[in-house]
Amino acid sequence: MTERPVVALIDAEAARFAEVLADLPVTLRSYAAPTPPGDPALASIPYALAAPDRLAAYLPALPALRWAQSTWAGVNPLLPLLPSRPELQVSALKGPFGALMVRYLNFWLDGFEQGLLVALAAQRRARWTHGAVRRQSGRDVRGARAVVLGTGAIGMDLGAALTARGYHAIGLNRSGAPAPGFAEVTPIARRLAALAGAEVLVSVVPATAETAGLLDDEALAELAPGALLMNVGRGSVVQEAALLAALESGHLGAAVLDVFDSEPLPEDHAFWSAPRCFVTPHISAPTEWEAVVPVFRENLLKVLAGEPPTGLVDPGRGY
Ligand SMILES: NC(=O)c1ccc[n+]([C@@H]2O[C@H](COP(=O)([O-])OP(=O)(O)OC[C@H]3O[C@@H](n4cnc5c(N)ncnc54)[C@H](OP(=O)(O)O)[C@@H]3O)[C@@H](O)[C@H]2O)c1
Repeated sequence: MTERPVVALIDAEAARFAEVLADLPVTLRSYAAPTPPGDPALASIPYALAAPDRLAAYLPALPALRWAQSTWAGVNPLLPLLPSRPELQVSALKGPFGALMVRYLNFWLDGFEQGLLVALAAQRRARWTHGAVRRQSGRDVRGARAVVLGTGAIGMDLGAALTARGYHAIGLNRSGAPAPGFAEVTPIARRLAALAGAEVLVSVVPATAETAGLLDDEALAELAPGALLMNVGRGSVVQEAALLAALESGHLGAAVLDVFDSEPLPEDHAFWSAPRCFVTPHISAPTEWEAVVPVFRENLLKVLAGEPPTGLVDPGRGY
């Protein structure tokens, strides 16, 4: 009898994963501790389902690891380790986030389009903003430019949602390659032209050396006066000083921020009290462990069949 391949489940939810994946043609070993136990069996394990921060701690104990499915969308804790492990492939989690992020986007767009964000922000200062709310809600968004920075798994769903609301949805990616959900896609090198006059800008790109600070004062200045900026990708993409200045000057209508350079956002950070700035605690797409299961299942069966899994991370690219 041939031995079944072994999969290490390296996650706080390892026991639950083990229960629902028991029918797979593999042997599952659960590792719920954040750092590796002194288990010699780890040395020969070829596959893993893992949270990237924990896998980074386990990696030295897993010299035979060939493929890992991340339980997160971003795999930044692993990136510095991958160049020394060229035989290891990592799949980022794709699939569960788009629909949740669309719900978050629609909530804030409803508030933006109806002028309710103006009223909510004014409540902090006990201001009655009847006229400003009416002016905002009187604007017709049909055909207005809405830019999504990032046309990947999540960006495509956001583009489709903006299109469904009547916006002219423009995607920004590295090459300008077309993507479903968008009326047009522009390469990042021409980002200023794409942003010119946009009423809505949503950022959903990963944190890489290239995306750091992409949304700077030049980029924000291109937006239509009163525009909405939403950042659900990573905090490093937005230049904080430029964003604060655009809110203070009134050029930016509102900022909705779900991700930050430093999380939790420090209590004394200016974003908490900046005008018309809405902070949420990295919950725009709150995925439960169950959502990982079908993605892992499908990918593991591909790997076992010798086929390439989906969501493979390119360590050189950084996502
Ligand atoms: N807030 C939350 O709760 C939450 C939840 C899930 C994910 N996220 C964040 O969302 C990010 C995106 O997730 P995803 O699954 O959609 O990723 P993805 O499928 O890998 O797509 C990433 C997109 O970013 C674009 N991109 C990367 N570098 C770029 C650059 N320098 N200039 C322009 N575009 C660039 C890519 O362009 P190309 O098409 O040209 O490669 C691609 O379109 C994740 O990395 C994570 O940081 C946040």
